[in-house]
Amino acid sequence: MTHPSSATPSSAAGGCPVGGTGAVALSGPGFHTEPQALYRRMRRDHGPVVPVELPGGVPAWLVIGYRELHQVTSDGELFPRDVSLWNQWENIPADWPLLPMVGTPMPSIYFTAGAEHRRHVDMVVPALEAADPFEIRQHCEQLADRLIDAVCTRGTADLVAEYAEPLPVLVLARLIGFPDEEGADIARVLKDLADGGPGAQKAYQRFGEHMHRLVAAKRERPGDDVTSRMLAHPEPFTDEEYALDLMAVTAAGHLTTADWIGSSTRLMLTEDQFADALPGGRHSVAEAMNEVLWEEGPTQILAGRWAARDARLGGRNIARGDMLLLGLGAANADPHIRQQVSSSVVRSGRGGNSAHLAFSHGEYRCPFPAQEIAETIARTGVEVLMDRLPDLELSVPATELVRRPSAFLRGTIALPVRFTPVRTTGDAL
Ligand code: HEM
Repeated sequence: MTHPSSATPSSAAGGCPVGGTGAVALSGPGFHTEPQALYRRMRRDHGPVVPVELPGGVPAWLVIGYRELHQVTSDGELFPRDVSLWNQWENIPADWPLLPMVGTPMPSIYFTAGAEHRRHVDMVVPALEAADPFEIRQHCEQLADRLIDAVCTRGTADLVAEYAEPLPVLVLARLIGFPDEEGADIARVLKDLADGGPGAQKAYQRFGEHMHRLVAAKRERPGDDVTSRMLAHPEPFTDEEYALDLMAVTAAGHLTTADWIGSSTRLMLTEDQFADALPGGRHSVAEAMNEVLWEEGPTQILAGRWAARDARLGGRNIARGDMLLLGLGAANADPHIRQQVSSSVVRSGRGGNSAHLAFSHGEYRCPFPAQEIAETIARTGVEVLMDRLPDLELSVPATELVRRPSAFLRGTIALPVRFTPVRTTGDAL
């Protein structure tokens, strides 16, 4: 089978990202509009493990088969999330656009592998797990109300910029121990980071400074928060490691949860089957959220895993050091799993619902307590919104809603809505 580095780039075939036999360019509007159609064609033309081409002609494998993805993520020894193994480093310029996402080796939970990764997991995950779900919900209700208060007398809003994006980062900032004023600045920092461009590097620096200050403050005066619990873990870490882990937790959680809120709200505003949640139907909120994880999970493609030695996967020869991109969104739609988990069961959220790979799988998956925190923030966020603004509707046709311009993330960049203006107390004017 063709090694990705020797596959013909599909760009040579012009426009269409999915070529007949060559590597698939992992960019283009098809990924934003109809990614599942592209995945179907990839499956037809290439099978479950697809040779792909990243910016600058960098080769990788995209794993789109459910079974193959399960196999890769279950075997952390053969396929660790260890970017230092990559056999392409000599071809990667310092300004390679995907570098911030792929990462460089650094001592944090997200960029370590093997025993070192487990050392970080043992410190970070119990600190997340000890967060009280009732308190998380309370924080979330309070912060959601505050965000709605800022727009509710206006009768219009962009639910992404003014609600779905700030809510998770404000809640996470509280959970890790920041006062609310700093939470608001961290929301701005993360926005600048996500926007990329010249401000991004400065934003990253400010992000680190916030975390270093927090570690110093909590060392001095511990509280009931994630940072204090991390510091209380018996095994010592350096301040740099604590700060990097706090950055990893915040960065991993904020946009993903924001997109979960945005996509669930979008579904409820555009699909009849979820419309009975307006106003207030709890059942449909859970259904819409579950549907999003199966059909358009916030992390569509994840970089990644790197082969620790030569291996076979899905009929392909994977060379030592090859990068494997996890096609989480594609794997969820793999006919193999969809035949087993009937669509109605998937949609109803009963049984089989935890089989999706939206949070990945195996030793590097999104930690279970983090998944629960995401679920609490997203569910509370959508419920408070529907309770406070019960006649919410889109103010543009659904066809005009635009997705994030990325093959890796799935979310809507703006959700313009209108509603009957209400007082900040929630009463109609
Ligand atoms: C809908 C929301 C979320 C989604 C879809 C999501 C998805 C993911 C995915 C796909 C990974 C990578 C797994 C891998 O490499 O196999 C991950 C890792 C991680 N996530 Fe989440 N996540 C979400 C929310 C959160 C939240 C709210 C937090 C924090 C409270 C969080 C913390 C983390 C951390 C710390 C890791 C690294 C785990 C490790 O390396 O051991 N995530 N997440």
